[in-house]
Amino acid sequence: MTSEATPVECRPLEVPPSDGPLLDVRDLHVTYRQGGRSVPAVRGVDFTLAPGDTLGVAGESGCGKSTMALSLLRLHGDAAKVTGEVLYDGENLLTTSWSKLRAVRWAGASVVFQGAMSALNPVRTVLDQLVEPMVLHDRLGPKQAERRAAELLDSVGIPARRMRSYPHEFSGGQRQRVMIAMALACRPDLIIADEPTTALDVMVQAQILELLGQLVRESRIAVIMITHDLSLLAHTCDRLAVMYAGRIVELGPSREVLQNPQHPYTRALSRAFPTIGDPASRRAPAGLPGDPPRPSETDAGCAFAPRCPEADDACRTGELLLWPTTPGRSAACLHARAQHTQLVPHTQLAPHAPHGGAS
Ligand SMILES: Nc1ncnc2c1ncn2[C@@H]1O[C@H](COP(=O)(O)OP(=O)(O)OP(=O)(O)O)[C@@H](O)[C@H]1O
Ligand SMILES: [Mg+2]
Repeated sequence: MTSEATPVECRPLEVPPSDGPLLDVRDLHVTYRQGGRSVPAVRGVDFTLAPGDTLGVAGESGCGKSTMALSLLRLHGDAAKVTGEVLYDGENLLTTSWSKLRAVRWAGASVVFQGAMSALNPVRTVLDQLVEPMVLHDRLGPKQAERRAAELLDSVGIPARRMRSYPHEFSGGQRQRVMIAMALACRPDLIIADEPTTALDVMVQAQILELLGQLVRESRIAVIMITHDLSLLAHTCDRLAVMYAGRIVELGPSREVLQNPQHPYTRALSRAFPTIGDPASRRAPAGLPGDPPRPSETDAGCAFAPRCPEADDACRTGELLLWPTTPGRSAACLHARAQHTQLVPHTQLAPHAPHGGAS
């Protein structure tokens, strides 16, 4: 659920329902302060998410994926300065009151991180941890909450008879399934899953991501899913956002982005699959030489230019924005823009497509 240590009673979010997107992220910047230096980890991210939409986020280690995901719910810690807007059902979560934010964190949006053991309380049974938010937030009685806990465990493939077990009595894969059940407990509109399976073996990873995909499809929950496995993202998510050096450099329908990448970085990344289960290959994917720039080293121009075989002088100067290319797609690449924009009707073109031209 959330990283809050002490559960608190909360009121429902007092926001009128709207027909707009569930989540509208505008010009999001996150800068860490570290030893007197500024580390701009996220540098102007824009996207929208409709109810039931699934967005996969890919990119090499250090590109700002987790920072972006954490900052959506203000889980980024005190060392970070965040600007921009994160409109959830029209309410800006970056500036809203703590009580409203807490309501969203409890019932609106859930987070699933890797490493369920550290997120689950080791001295409380799984049942206790599952029913707590339902009793506090949904005001279910103890019996009702226990019934729902049994259903939830069943939906993630854990027999209800095990609900009085403690986290250490489950395998890593089962604990991750429990985390998913907890994320679903208050029927959220949005799940943010940051590498929910990285610590697990390959077979279990695939099963759990498949399960998560199936559950969200059935209940029309929107998902932001971060993993390093591009093919898996294409399988699980409708759209794909590729991040590089703190920015989204390509956004569009997952299969199209993978089958016909428009940004040279996406092309390189899709050829350079990391070996699943090998943490070292995540930091240095085979076939993609060099490293992303450190956040403090990003200057003007395209941050990928030093590694890009197609870069020319124009790529190394000037401001580079995410531009609409073909319908429903956008890329932050001058060459992609020159090549594809003639395919987009003139009326759909804006000098800057803040929401990636797709939602
Ligand atoms: N608390 C922090 N203080 C200072 N810098 C940080 C902090 N957290 C992250 N960073 C830096 O911000 C940048 C983005 O980190 P982030 O963890 O968001 O990347 P990521 O894309 O999630 O990487 P990975 O794939 O390894 O999880 C990195 O350069 C990282 O070193
Ligand atoms: Mg991360």
